[in-house]
Amino acid sequence: MLVLGLETSCDETGVALFDTEQGLIGQALHSQVDLHAVYGGVVPEIASRDHIRRLLPLIQGVLDEAGVSRPDAIAYTAGPGLVGALMVAGGLANGLGLAWNCPLIPVHHMEGHLLAPMLEDNAPEFPFLALLVSGGHTMLVAVAALGSYHVLGTTLDDAVGEAFDKTAKLLGLAYPGGPALAALAEHGNDEAYPLPRPMLHREGFDFSFSGLKTAVMMLVRKAETAGTIDDARADIAASFQRAAIDTLIGRALKAAKSEQAQRIVVAGGVGANRLLRKELAARFSGSVFYPRYEYCTDNGAMIAIAGAMRLADAQKPATIQAAARWSLESLAPPKVRPD
Ligand code: KG4
Ligand code: ZN
Repeated sequence: MLVLGLETSCDETGVALFDTEQGLIGQALHSQVDLHAVYGGVVPEIASRDHIRRLLPLIQGVLDEAGVSRPDAIAYTAGPGLVGALMVAGGLANGLGLAWNCPLIPVHHMEGHLLAPMLEDNAPEFPFLALLVSGGHTMLVAVAALGSYHVLGTTLDDAVGEAFDKTAKLLGLAYPGGPALAALAEHGNDEAYPLPRPMLHREGFDFSFSGLKTAVMMLVRKAETAGTIDDARADIAASFQRAAIDTLIGRALKAAKSEQAQRIVVAGGVGANRLLRKELAARFSGSVFYPRYEYCTDNGAMIAIAGAMRLADAQKPATIQAAARWSLESLAPPKVRPD
């Protein structure tokens, strides 16, 4: 079975073709980063307009390159995300589904992220603990099986990717700041400034990053006033990164212990962070699984594989599903388990 995956929930237009026999056989991605960079963040209306321009030609290109005239099913991101942006893939999926007489699978964006490591040769087996770290989410999820999710902890304020982006902005780095901040941090001393590790000693598994962000803001203002900001930038970036990653790892290890997890899956854009990968490998005694770097951030491949794993849920085109908010825990296992 051939599943076409479409992703337009935020600022990436992603298309991929997944063959349940052969695996991924085609994919294309268009990033809108340049369009939004001038505004310092994603502008929803601009995102929707660009998805409209890009999506159909990207689909055509992926099908042509694979030598396929139509898929057997279409999976599309139905939320959570920007509703106008989600509507682009949702609307097109419904139109193409009617034209091609093929069923649709609405996919939860975060389920796509947590299944992305399944695209790799050494795919994790269920159950596992998932650390989902993106620009919009920071979550620790106990994953018993496909569609069986218990959210152990989530952020009470900013997502960790958002904290990276906002800190990067404070340091004068271009949007999206996460990768730029990580690169700058390579040249800094991560012990230069003692920064808080929020929530690390609190009960439960929730996160909070706003206190850390405020502490960095104070440091930046102080250095600006003293005229030392140019010398301090890399050290502030490294100290922030160390505090944020220590917090993520501290919470993840605590959850892994409480769940007796042997496997941790890290997914979402911040999963591309090298310090996170290095530290988790050093501090967790079980196995850690990641998608390859390009499948950490938003992409069509994770939606196509999530759709392929949920073929039992495929439905005739009828309504466009697009939800700004959608609880991961409200998902259920597929109606009929795939073999
Ligand atoms: O998963 P994603 O592409 O989009 C959302 O669903 O949010 O994640 C994007 C986030 C951005 O906040 C970006 O700054 C962050 O992931 N990010 C990183 C790195 N690469 C991307 N944060 C820290 N270190 C990185 N290397
Ligand atoms: Zn995402």
